[in-house]
Amino acid sequence: MSDSYPKPRDLRRPLDPPADYKRLQREAPVCPVKIWDGSTPWLITRHADACEALADPRLCGDFTHPGFPHTSPASKARRARLLPFAFRPEAEYRPQRAMLLHEFTSRKMEAWRPAIQRTVDEAINAMLAGPRPIDLMAAFALPVAIRVICDVLGMPREDAEHLHVLSRTVGSRTAPKEAVERALDALDGFFHRLVATNVRAPGDTLVGRVVAEQVLPGKLSEPDAAAMFQLLFHAGHGPSAYMFGMGVVALLLHPDQLDRFRAMEDPREISAAIQELLRFVTVSHSARQRVALEDVTLGGQHIRAGEGVLVQLSAANRDETVFPEPDRLDLQREPRPNLAMGHGMHLCTGRALALIQLEVVFRTLFRRIPTLRLAVPVEDIPFKQDENILGAHELPVTW
Ligand code: HEM
Repeated sequence: MSDSYPKPRDLRRPLDPPADYKRLQREAPVCPVKIWDGSTPWLITRHADACEALADPRLCGDFTHPGFPHTSPASKARRARLLPFAFRPEAEYRPQRAMLLHEFTSRKMEAWRPAIQRTVDEAINAMLAGPRPIDLMAAFALPVAIRVICDVLGMPREDAEHLHVLSRTVGSRTAPKEAVERALDALDGFFHRLVATNVRAPGDTLVGRVVAEQVLPGKLSEPDAAAMFQLLFHAGHGPSAYMFGMGVVALLLHPDQLDRFRAMEDPREISAAIQELLRFVTVSHSARQRVALEDVTLGGQHIRAGEGVLVQLSAANRDETVFPEPDRLDLQREPRPNLAMGHGMHLCTGRALALIQLEVVFRTLFRRIPTLRLAVPVEDIPFKQDENILGAHELPVTW
C-alpha cells in the first residue's frame, strides 16, 4: 500500500519537516504516494534525485496535462482557468518566462535596496510606536512583503492587503472549491483591470514596461499578461512574508546562532547565513509538482510517461548526505546548494529580490529591536497546517 501524502508536521517541532520524509529518504527515496484524489504520483525526498528531477526537461510543470499531480483541489480548480506561464506547457512557458528575466536581475533588484530598507524601517517605526505584544506577521512581515512586491511591480499598495487574503484562499489545501473559484474571480478581475490601465497608458513600472514591450506589439495577450502579474504578486509576497516570520522564529529559538548573526559583518558570511536559514526553514514545504512527458529513470525507479512526480524540497534540504547534521541550524555551515528556491528551469524568478529583502529584514529587525522575543511559548504559536507555504497564522512577539 502506498504512503499517503502530504504527511502532517509535528507541531512540537514546527521547524522540522515531518519525520516520515526522513524514513522515506532512507527506505524508499523515490516511491509512489497516495494524494487526496486517490492518484499515486512519485515522491522524491533525496537531494540528488530532487536536483536531477528539477533539472530534467522531460519532467514538466504543465498543470493541464492529464497526469499532472495536483496536490489539492485548489490546484486542480486552476486548470479550468487561463494559467500563468509557470504552469503552462513548455512551448508557452519558456517565451513568457524570458520576457521577465531581464527585469529581475541582481543588478536591477539591488537598485531597490534603499526603498526596501525604507519600507522595513517604516514598519519597525510603526511597531515601536504601538502596543506590545504584537503579531509580527500582521504588523510587519506581511505588510513589508506586500508593499515591496507592489512597489517593484508598480501596483497600487492600497489594494494589496485584500489581494493577499484572496491569494491565501487560492494557496489553501483545504479551501472549498467554491471559495477558491470566488477568490480566483476577484483576483482575475483586479489583474485584468491593472493590465487594461497600462494598455491605455503604460507606466514606467515593471508592469508598464512588460505591457509596452510585449502586449502592445502583440507578443503577449492581455489575459496572459494579467495571469503573469497575478503570479508575480502571489509568488512575490507569500513565501517572502512567511520566510521573514519563520526565519525570526528559527533565530529566536537558536540564541547562539542569533548572536553569531548579529556579529557578522562580511557580506559573504551574511549571505551564507541567509542561505542556511532558507535551507533550514524551507517555506515551500508543499512538493513541487511535475509530470513525466517521457519515460524517465530516477533513483533507480522507472517513471512512465504521463505519471506525476512530487519533489519534496523540505526533505531534500535536510538530506544528511549533503548537509551534515541536517537538523541543526548552523549559520556558518560550509555552503552547499540548497533547494529552498527551487532548481533548474523553474528556479525562483524573484530570487535576487528575495535575498535582498531577507538580508535587510533580519539585519534591521534584530539591530533595531535587540530584545525582540516570542511573547508566547513556541507550542502556542498557531502554525499553518493547511497551506502550501509554511508559516504562522499569528506570531506574537514582544521586546
Ligand atoms: C523567501 C522567498 C521566496 C521563496 C522561498 C521562493 C521559492 C520559490 C520556489 C521553491 C520556486 C520553484 C517552484 C517550482 O520549481 O515549481 C519559486 C518559483 C517562482 N518564484 Fe519564488 N520564492 C521566493 C520569493 C519570490 C519573489 C520575491 C518573487 C518575485 C517575483 C518570486 C517569484 C517566483 C516566480 C514567478 C516563480 C516561478 C518560476 C518559474 O516557474 O519559472 N519568488 N519560488
